[in-house]
Amino acid sequence: MELKEELKRKAGEKAVKYIKDGMVVGLGTGSTVKYTILKLGELVKDGLDIIGIPTSIATEKLAKEMGIKLGSINDYQVIDLTIDGADEVDRNLNLIKGGGGALLREKMIAHASKYEIIVVDESKVKSVLGDFPLPIEIVKFGYKRTMNVLSTLGCKPLLRVKNGEAYITDNGNYIVDCKFERIDEPAKLERRIDEIPGVVEVGLFVGLANKVIVGKKDKIEIMTS
Ligand code: 5RP
Repeated sequence: MELKEELKRKAGEKAVKYIKDGMVVGLGTGSTVKYTILKLGELVKDGLDIIGIPTSIATEKLAKEMGIKLGSINDYQVIDLTIDGADEVDRNLNLIKGGGGALLREKMIAHASKYEIIVVDESKVKSVLGDFPLPIEIVKFGYKRTMNVLSTLGCKPLLRVKNGEAYITDNGNYIVDCKFERIDEPAKLERRIDEIPGVVEVGLFVGLANKVIVGKKDKIEIMTS
C-alpha cells in the first residue's frame, strides 16, 4: 500500500474506537472514511449494534455491503457521532469538504450530530484554508449567472466535469469548484456564499468538527476543538 493510502487507513481505522454499542452513527464519504466503514463492518459482524446514517449513495452502498444497519436522517434527527473525511483542515478545525461531491448531505448530517470526527492524512492539514478549490453545490437553473456572482467574491469558479459531462450530485445539482488565493475568514465567506440565490450549500464547515484524527508517517495526531 502506498504511503498516503496507509496514512488514510491509519486515521480511518482509528476512528472506530469512538463508536459504542447502541449509537446512531453518521457515515461520511470518501477514500479515508472508507477505512472506518470497512473496520466498522468487521465490528458489526462481531456483534456491535449501531445504526448508520450515510452521507451519500456511494456510502450507503458500501455500508450495505458491509452489513451495517442503516437509517435516515428523517428517522434519526439527532446523530450521536459522525465520522467523515475532509479535503483541508486548519488548526481551528475549520474544513473544506466536497471533493467527493457529497457536501450537502455531509453538512446536514454534521449539523445533526452531537459529535463530529474528521479523518485525514497529514497532507490535508494547512495553516490557512484555500489551496484546495472550494466546492459549492448550486442549482442548474441560472448556473452561469451564479458562477459569475461567485467570481465577484474573488475566486475562479469552474464547473465540475466528470467523464466529459457536468458532474451531478446525489441531489441532482451541479458543483462549482472555486479557487480562492487563501481563505482567511472562513465563517464570513461561508455566510456570504450561502446568501447567493442559486447556491444550495458551500463546502466550508466552520464550528462543526470536534476532533480531527490525522494519520502521520510516525504517529497519529488527534486535534480537538
Ligand atoms: C466528500 C468529502 C470527502 O470527505 C473529502 O473529499 C475527502 O475525501 P478523501 O478522504 O477521499 O480525500 O467531503 O464530499
